[in-house]
Amino acid sequence: MAIRQSPSPVSPRGVTRIGHLLFGGDYSPEQWPEAVWAEDARLMRDAGVNLVSLGVFAWSKIEVAPGEFRFEWLDRVIDLLHENGVAVNLATPTASPPPWLVHRHPDILPIKADGTRLWHGSRRHYCPHSPAYREAAVRVTRALADRYAEHLALAMWHVDNEYAGHVTECFCDNAAEAFRRWLEVRYGSLAGLNDAWGAAFWSQSYGAWEEVEPPRQTPTFVNPTELLDWRRFWSESWLGCLRDQAAVLRERTPHVPITTNFMGFHGPLDYWAWGREEDVVSNDSYPDTSDPSWMIGSAMAYDLMRSLKGGRPWVLMEQASAHVNWRERNATKRPGVMRLGSYQAIARGADGVMFFQWRASRAGAEKHHSAMVPHVGTDSRTWREVSALGAELGHLDEILGSSVAADVAIVFDWENLWALGSGPMPASIELLSQVRALYAGLFERQVAVDFAHPEADLSGYRLVVVPHLYLMTDAAARRLVEYVDGGGTLLMTYFSGIVDANDHVRLGGYPAGLIELMGLRVEEFAPQVASQSTPVVTADGTRFDGTLWSDVITLAGAEPIATFAGDFYAGRPAVTRHRFGAGTAYYLGTMPDAAGVRWTMGRALDAAGIRSPNGVRSGIETVTRRSGSHAWLFVLNHTEEPVEVELEGSGLELLSQQPCDGSVRVEPTGVAIVRFEG
Ligand code: GLA
Repeated sequence: MAIRQSPSPVSPRGVTRIGHLLFGGDYSPEQWPEAVWAEDARLMRDAGVNLVSLGVFAWSKIEVAPGEFRFEWLDRVIDLLHENGVAVNLATPTASPPPWLVHRHPDILPIKADGTRLWHGSRRHYCPHSPAYREAAVRVTRALADRYAEHLALAMWHVDNEYAGHVTECFCDNAAEAFRRWLEVRYGSLAGLNDAWGAAFWSQSYGAWEEVEPPRQTPTFVNPTELLDWRRFWSESWLGCLRDQAAVLRERTPHVPITTNFMGFHGPLDYWAWGREEDVVSNDSYPDTSDPSWMIGSAMAYDLMRSLKGGRPWVLMEQASAHVNWRERNATKRPGVMRLGSYQAIARGADGVMFFQWRASRAGAEKHHSAMVPHVGTDSRTWREVSALGAELGHLDEILGSSVAADVAIVFDWENLWALGSGPMPASIELLSQVRALYAGLFERQVAVDFAHPEADLSGYRLVVVPHLYLMTDAAARRLVEYVDGGGTLLMTYFSGIVDANDHVRLGGYPAGLIELMGLRVEEFAPQVASQSTPVVTADGTRFDGTLWSDVITLAGAEPIATFAGDFYAGRPAVTRHRFGAGTAYYLGTMPDAAGVRWTMGRALDAAGIRSPNGVRSGIETVTRRSGSHAWLFVLNHTEEPVEVELEGSGLELLSQQPCDGSVRVEPTGVAIVRFEG
């Protein structure tokens, strides 16, 4: 085995000591005869692969019976990879407990809200509150760490796989008991619990902890605060599994960074909390590229990933080379689109592009999923595109460690997401689609955006957008007041500042705690049925439609800049502006159509002094990464036509190594990266 002489620190630039943009994928040699491994190693070299995620689902091959480990095959794989210049992102295989473990401890299996048990036979079939599972997961993690701690190939730990994928919660007795203990810690007493849960409603007051049950299948709406706590509890429950393993890995290999692969805005996990527990954020991304606006959703997820660790580089851990196999119809990525999507991640701060998976499986549930090496072999478009990308990325070391500086932040928080989904509402608001609609208004102007936690310091941003912060803590309200008072521009949308952290309605008008800041009071909501919309007329004569919701607003210092032109609240404000301290607060009292988003965002951006770097050009995406005095402008052409994009100054286009002065031409579905000096 190639043994590390002395622990090498993680490179100060980039997320690992590899020193190049990471390029590779999930590698499952356990699915193939050894004869194939040599070919894998050769092809990896040919394609410029420098990292593979190894052993993600290999538990039953690594530990064949309790405590009986078979590492020899893994030793040979890791040595082979190392000899071929491929580093290892070694996975703890805990996302798929082996049959022997489940057979001995059936209480590992998760139970659904209706009492149905989920059986072995696919993956992610475990409840994190099973003591047998936790113990076995730590044991296999420790065994791997002991075995490979000093191996030179070990570059990163990939803990588990997509926590809270497939199974987001479990209603077994172990989980129920853990929930009770969690509530005891949170509230200290039953009186505290009853108060927080508003248990006087519908006769739900508890007299003993044992009376508390998880929110199983009930006749009608479950207590919303209970549901909110259940979501909090589950995000922390899964996090407990990561913590168990991270503790073992940090003790054995303090020099090796830890990651676990996220899934964009995945609902069940509070990734703000999760991001703090890992060294490197990584993300899996499977946009449906048959949707003409696919790039907006992926851009938004990538901006979130960058934001989770304050702008630090992250890794695109999984993407498809061509098509997935889990949609009803799986559109393939057309020529150039895989490359375009890969550069989109890099443009938005990724220091690596990886795939699920290296070689397409011959058997099993994912045999019809694309891979870097397709079934047909290397004489294929997929392989040609994959290996060409690997070669290109090998020349972009200079980008490592640089990041995107955004002037705009969108406030997003899982507690708010959970609260909005925890009970019946005046109208059901899909927070993520609303966030996306507002994000789209910034994306089309090519304005860089970070995401921010509501209690974060926002003072570094010129514009902060707050979509539907329904659950607003006192600390968050204070942050927003401080931010505007200090000179910031705020754009807040309807149904914000409604409940406290216990999901109790704040009394006296909305947005509660911010009435002075916004210079208005919402006294009534007028949700709109699906077929309805209300015309809005702006002070400059623009017209658009408000949908889903209208706030009935009473002004208390703010000026209306757009008013409703219909329904019983005709003539009342739809969009307002209020100068407060050294800043300005905008309020949007409806969900505008795309034209309305464009108009409103335009006002807020102008007020914040933010201009669109390259104007509004449909299908063109531009993002700048910076480091010190260097700047790299990424231009992505999502259209089928060549485009000429104007530049401020001259630079070098890195992919063609051509100088460019004043403008750069980008081919259809093409990419340009222009480096500016000084
Ligand atoms: C997820 C998983 C992978 C694989 C892919 C398929 O991202 O992490 O193991 O199942 O989906 O798209």
